[in-house]
Amino acid sequence: MSSSESWRGLGMVKETYTSRPAHDLKLEGIREKETYTSRLDCILDKNELSKEGIVFLLKLDRREHLGRLFKKADEVREEYIGEDVYVRGVLEFSNYCRNDCLYCGIRKSNLKLRRYRIKPEEIVGIAKNAVSSLGFRTVLLQSGEDGYYTTEVVEDMIKRILEKCDCRVALSIGERTVEEYKRFYDAGARRCLVRFETSNKKLFEKLHPKSSQTKNSFGRRVKLIKRLGKIGYQVGTGFMVGLPGQSIEDLAGDILMYDRLKANMAGTGPFICHPDTPLACSNNGSFEMSLKVIAVTRIACKDIFISATTALQSLNNANGRELALQAGANLLMPNITPKKYRMLYQLYPNKACVYENPFDCANCVKKVVETVGRTIGRGYGDAIRK
Ligand code: SAM
Ligand code: FES
Repeated sequence: MSSSESWRGLGMVKETYTSRPAHDLKLEGIREKETYTSRLDCILDKNELSKEGIVFLLKLDRREHLGRLFKKADEVREEYIGEDVYVRGVLEFSNYCRNDCLYCGIRKSNLKLRRYRIKPEEIVGIAKNAVSSLGFRTVLLQSGEDGYYTTEVVEDMIKRILEKCDCRVALSIGERTVEEYKRFYDAGARRCLVRFETSNKKLFEKLHPKSSQTKNSFGRRVKLIKRLGKIGYQVGTGFMVGLPGQSIEDLAGDILMYDRLKANMAGTGPFICHPDTPLACSNNGSFEMSLKVIAVTRIACKDIFISATTALQSLNNANGRELALQAGANLLMPNITPKKYRMLYQLYPNKACVYENPFDCANCVKKVVETVGRTIGRGYGDAIRK
């Protein structure tokens, strides 16, 4: 099944293209259509995308044009990345967080949430099982910003996982000092995921209130992401699609940030509104726009790794990840958190896989990869992009 056939067949992308025959259209309309199509061709043929070109692509809404965008992204993926899909097992080890990000279900002010922390020895055991029994080659340790896990504790966990398992350890634990991240690197961690969330500084600052404990600022986040690359980490970053107040121009700026930050991995997913946050009454980000963002990121950044995120899967559990893999993505991030904790790590409602266990998720990703006719990467899946 080719990518263009499958996304059409799967029919998730809203059809807005008017199928009136050409002879019914006024001459002006025909010319307009031709100009529009040749502009699309011209943008897709260029080696580099300008901000204007990205905005044009993100505004595409006709079925035939979307088909061309996704096909082009799939071709670029094939040329620069190949057929392998890499899998990262995500272990959500604590839902405590000192931050109050307006969008996030585990924000500290959500007093309805029961909090949990998995003990370091249990974390090491879960990682070991994910690698030796389920075959994962990367364990991504994710949590809220939780100081309970001190520098020494995180260091020790990384070392113990690496002693027991042949894998890469990746960290998604939020903002820590550069010195701490250096120590985690020395302990053996080789990847980090810190999203910039939005490239619009004003919007970032609205969404991340400062407090006496945290000094959230856009500049600080961007600086940290750049420093991580200098330490030697393969750096993952990203943003949410459909944040309240976000424009298409912001999204274009977000895509351009990947190069500015020298990112190795792009993690973009839709914003999904959580009822127990200040953004409870907002609209969710759109699945279609998230897919376009993946495709444009692939065309703009060529060899970057791009994940089909859990948030995207949560908006379309039937085939969201398959569509993402066919629109430029090459990474899957199944959950390896024990089932008893999953419900408590709902950054947003209806999060995918909360009723499954790590074994189910491992099998499920194999099926997803088979469905799109690709292969699971057998190595560590280190970044191609330097
Ligand atoms: N504490 C770490 C950090 O901040 O990097 C990692 C955990 S944090 C919850 C992981 C990511 O979840 C955030 O970077 C954010 O983009 C995403 N996220 C949080 N709330 C979300 C929501 N309501 N919808 C979609 N994604 C969300
Ligand atoms: Fe803690 Fe978002 S509020 S991760």
